[in-house]
Amino acid sequence: MADSGSTARPSHDARVTAASFRRMKTRGERITMLTAYDYRSALLFDAAGVDGLLVGDSLGMVMHGHETTVPVTLDDVIHHTRPVVRATQRALVVADLPFMSYTTSREQAMTNAARLVQEGGAQAVKLEGGRAVAGTIDALVTAGVPVMGHIGLTPQAILRFGGYRIQGRDKVAAQMLLDDARALEDAGAFGVVLELVAAPLAGRISEVLKIPTIGIGAGEACDGQIQVMHDILGYDLPGSFVPRHAKQFANVGDTILSAVKAYVAGVRAGTFPTNAQSVMMDESVVKALGDPG
Ligand code: KIV
Repeated sequence: MADSGSTARPSHDARVTAASFRRMKTRGERITMLTAYDYRSALLFDAAGVDGLLVGDSLGMVMHGHETTVPVTLDDVIHHTRPVVRATQRALVVADLPFMSYTTSREQAMTNAARLVQEGGAQAVKLEGGRAVAGTIDALVTAGVPVMGHIGLTPQAILRFGGYRIQGRDKVAAQMLLDDARALEDAGAFGVVLELVAAPLAGRISEVLKIPTIGIGAGEACDGQIQVMHDILGYDLPGSFVPRHAKQFANVGDTILSAVKAYVAGVRAGTFPTNAQSVMMDESVVKALGDPG
């Protein structure tokens, strides 16, 4: 059929799915992911062409001001997933199962993943852990929920790790991570986040797996990369800590500070608002109201 001004979206704009992640690995296309927690940011990231948006439980730190991801609840993740889903036309939206929301029992994991998908609108879920969660991943995938794994430094276990350190540096730890990665693939995960994994090991895991690895602080050999949006945008107070694995591609914190300082100064000085931001009317109407007293 001839297309005269059709609004059909070109095929490169079709929704990215869990299955597309695997195809992208096969084709050698690097996968881009970023966290997102609100409508406007997700709108921009989707327009910029990011392949996947993660409503990560990092929201506890960057959106709610907690020190770790541990206090984040399932309701928090659902609350932030809805606007991200509403904003996206192309990116795959993955939502995190938070701390202790999938480890108590298989039923708990199924019920909570179903809430992320049904109430939040997530198109996939992510959970942390290796062989210990493989059975849960298998059950979720069998039930029709695409699952992304997450190994290496798993922030929900920060109380056990005691700090954010590179993982898998000695032979035993490296073998364990490789075995965990294989177990996630065998369980049906469509991808696996490698967080703070030494680059050569992340490279080996990426070679061995058929599903894509998505690195954060895991070097360039991963099949894709993910970052926390605030880290790459410099969305923080100037001089704040920047993780070594992040690069600031912008300085949104500086931009916001100077814009808001200019707004405050404008209001205080009476230079904002002006007639340009105000609505006029026939002043005789006001005069006809009589004296203010
Ligand atoms: O919660 C999160 O943002 C994450 C990424 C760091 C991968 O899990």
